[in-house]
Amino acid sequence: MIIRPEAPGDVAAIRIVEEVAFGRSAEARLVDDLRAAGDSVFSLVAVDDNTVVGHVLFSRMKAPFPALALGPVAVLHEYQRTGFGSRLTRQGIARGEAAGWLGIFVLGDPAFYQRFGFDVDKASGFVSPYAGSHLMALPLGGNELPTDAGIIEHAAAFAKLG
Ligand SMILES: CC(C)(COP(=O)(O)OP(=O)(O)OC[C@H]1O[C@@H](n2cnc3c(N)ncnc32)[C@H](O)[C@@H]1OP(=O)(O)O)[C@@H](O)C(=O)NCCC(=O)NCCS
Repeated sequence: MIIRPEAPGDVAAIRIVEEVAFGRSAEARLVDDLRAAGDSVFSLVAVDDNTVVGHVLFSRMKAPFPALALGPVAVLHEYQRTGFGSRLTRQGIARGEAAGWLGIFVLGDPAFYQRFGFDVDKASGFVSPYAGSHLMALPLGGNELPTDAGIIEHAAAFAKLG
């Protein structure tokens, strides 16, 4: 299994992975919309035996410091619970850190994201339509975010997620 940046030929396969993993089309559409709007900063695929079996996307967002939004992340059912989701997420975090981003926000299940250092408390000072028990933040390049409060705004495509 390898993890590599999305290539133009991966678009259809990514759509399938997102749709099948989530059991609905909203996240696949989110990925397409983020890409079309130029809001995707990087997008990684997990490839096994020449097949795309997992995907994660990091998008630009407005925040008081350079910050990325993580999501969606998805792995085909038959490949779940074998480390693909963690490897995609960890590689994305490492890329973001290496590129000088100072934080990542994610909206999701803390039971999955806490293992990477995402913290609900670290996001709790930020004003967002998604504020609450599922909004988490991860500092990059240190243990704390540059500021623990402010307004954050995800890319416009997230508003359609519902
Ligand atoms: C969430 C998802 C990407 C994880 O991918 P994965 O390849 O199964 O993840 P890993 O094999 O790296 O598992 C890492 C850990 O996360 C746990 N985990 C997997 N899916 C989880 C979920 N939905 N919620 C909470 N924990 C989850 C696993 O049990 C494992 O825990 P362990 O190390 O204590 O055994 C995958 O299950 C998926 O595509 N789910 C449907 C889409 C989705 O819900 N994505 C967003 C999640 S908020």
